[in-house]
Amino acid sequence: MHSRFYLSLLLISSLVLMMFIGMGVYREMTSEWKTYQTEYKNMLVRNAEDDAARKRAEKLEIGLRQNYVASLNKSDRCMSCHIGVENPYMAKADQPFTLHSGDYIENHPVDKFGCTICHYGQGRATNKKEAHGKGHTHWDYPIIPTKYIQSACAKCHDYKMLQEEGAELVVKGEKLFREKGCRGCHKLNGVGGDLGKALDGIGSKPRAYYAMKHVVGEHTAYNWIKQHFDDPRAIVPTSEMRVFMEEDESDLLTTYIFSIREEEMPSKYRFLKNIVTPPRDGESLYKMFCVACHGSGKISVYDEIFDRTIPAITNPPFLRSADNKTIKNIVMEGRGGTQMTSWKTTASGLKEEDVDKIVEYVASSRTYERPEPFNYLEFQTNIDSGMRLYNNRCSYCHGKEGKGGNRQLGINLKNSTVQQVLDPEFLALTIRDGREGTPMPSFGGDGLGLSDQNIADVVAYVKTFGKKK
Ligand code: HEC
Ligand code: HEC
Ligand code: HEC
Ligand code: HEC
Ligand code: HEC
Ligand code: HEC
Repeated sequence: MHSRFYLSLLLISSLVLMMFIGMGVYREMTSEWKTYQTEYKNMLVRNAEDDAARKRAEKLEIGLRQNYVASLNKSDRCMSCHIGVENPYMAKADQPFTLHSGDYIENHPVDKFGCTICHYGQGRATNKKEAHGKGHTHWDYPIIPTKYIQSACAKCHDYKMLQEEGAELVVKGEKLFREKGCRGCHKLNGVGGDLGKALDGIGSKPRAYYAMKHVVGEHTAYNWIKQHFDDPRAIVPTSEMRVFMEEDESDLLTTYIFSIREEEMPSKYRFLKNIVTPPRDGESLYKMFCVACHGSGKISVYDEIFDRTIPAITNPPFLRSADNKTIKNIVMEGRGGTQMTSWKTTASGLKEEDVDKIVEYVASSRTYERPEPFNYLEFQTNIDSGMRLYNNRCSYCHGKEGKGGNRQLGINLKNSTVQQVLDPEFLALTIRDGREGTPMPSFGGDGLGLSDQNIADVVAYVKTFGKKK
């Protein structure tokens, strides 16, 4: 009994084994790359201009082509199909036989660089789907869409060179990154805001890192990043990211993002001509760190997603009532519990001298010197009267007891950082003169008819928000 059972088991398993071997052989014989190489060879033979050329073509060996680059730790077999990349006669041939465009291959010889250093994909794979890393393969880094390929150049070259030598897209992307104020919310190399995550190494994140639920089309990191720039909320519904893109800008920024990588290139693969450090004057720094939320600073905007007003910080009424020291204090402290993060060195990595430059830039729109002083300390104040006035005149926007009003339109005056940083004189001036160009009206003088005494009473009441009950 037993021996018959084992016999049939043996029989079955050897059949299965043979089937697998058979399948392997079949696959090997009909492998895609062989088909392509045979087609390529036939093409060369057919189009040979003379006998010598035909003989050379007939001698072409069909075989896997692999290129191992030890110092980059890459084995690329792409040339097994893309066999004509160095053959000028293939300029007009279809893919995968086409001569490589441009002078990329002359400048980066295949034996020294391979292909995946620029294109990504799975170098060792021998069929197209796996080599390109598309579809349901487990390869983390599928070939990069050609429109983003310049991101690879910045691993080894400086921007000045790339600007002049054929990779201006990644250069434009880097400039946009600075000018759109991405660092208002993201740190890079330790410097920037805190609302979003640090972006160091972001371009090396495998596709599994991203939640692909809302991505349209192929689920690649490339598509995630691009579509997230076009509309952050379409990809991450709760996102507080503020970006406003025109036409091709999201593609340019995507190119730049994929140049921010974890891996360091070995020094012999780096080719730097001229490293130019980006400008660090007040205006450039303001753009890098503040512009994404405050824009030009001239007008204030109510942000639906933040659910609060982003105040105008370069408009004259604000600058008249806030001196540079006050502005610097506000910027250094930030506003706890709001999107306005602290810009102290310990929090943001920004040097204090850079904060000074930003404050000077912000203040450069100040049109004339200090307003007529309010002299708050000379008033005898009445908190009850202040409370009544506040409830009538202010609570609609600033909320009862200052906790932020209707849709947080006015600033939360109870916020401990506001209470700590803003002195009574500043508050009184703000109420008396208002903030032209923002919803904050002027209550003094010919404005909404509060006397200086009324204003002092309101300030005294507002200051009680800061006291623990
Ligand atoms: C088994 C054959 C094969 C291998 C191996 C292969 N390719 Fe391709 N490749 C093709 C074919 C065929 C095309 C033509 C377009 C198509 O059919 O998708 C192509 C097209 C491309 C394109 C054009 C853009 C696109 O998405 O269509 C790029 C870039 C590319 N391959 C890069 C690579 C790189 C890099 C490797 C190595 C990691 C590689 N290929 C390995 C067959 C192959
Ligand atoms: C130094 C970087 C670099 C290397 C190395 C490189 N390429 Fe490219 N490749 C590029 C760039 C850049 C383009 C886009 C060219 C253009 O826009 O004209 C490109 C274009 C291509 C295309 C056409 C893509 C399309 O969308 O039509 C194919 C196919 C391709 N490369 C295959 C390869 C193969 C195969 C290798 C390895 C033998 C290789 N490349 C090596 C940078 C490189
Ligand atoms: C892995 C690093 C690496 C990548 C990626 C890379 N390059 Fe290069 N590149 C080099 C090195 C190294 C040289 C010098 C090659 C040599 O002489 O052997 C070079 C040479 C060049 C040259 C010739 C410069 C000269 O003065 O001789 C140009 C132009 C160039 N690269 C542009 C590009 C562009 C554009 C890209 C992106 C499509 C790119 N490179 C991607 C490393 C790289
Ligand atoms: C107002 C703040 C803010 C600004 C400005 C901002 N971001 Fe973001 N960003 C976020 C937040 C919050 C997230 C996390 C939620 C999400 O994924 O949308 C995020 C996510 C990201 C991610 C995904 C990071 C990861 O690890 O998941 C990238 C990449 C990114 N931002 C790049 C940028 C770039 C580039 C810019 C400039 C064009 C920019 N951001 C401007 C707040 C901001
Ligand atoms: C992520 C968005 C964001 C960024 C980036 C940002 N801010 Fe703000 N900022 C705000 C918000 C929101 C407020 C209002 C906070 C509140 O409600 O109290 C604010 C308030 C301020 C105020 C107080 C204005 C007033 O009326 O008292 C100043 C000054 C200011 N920001 C300056 C800056 C500067 C300078 C930078 C760049 C270093 C900057 N902010 C970066 C969102 C931002
Ligand atoms: C119509 C809505 C509205 C009313 C009414 C209003 N405010 Fe404001 N207030 C705002 C807005 C909006 C801001 C932010 C200014 C900006 O957007 O640049 C502000 C700013 C302020 C600030 C400056 C806070 C800071 O961080 O710099 C103070 C103080 C203030 N309001 C107090 C008051 C008081 C007191 C009253 C009543 C007497 C009042 N406001 C009435 C909307 C209003």
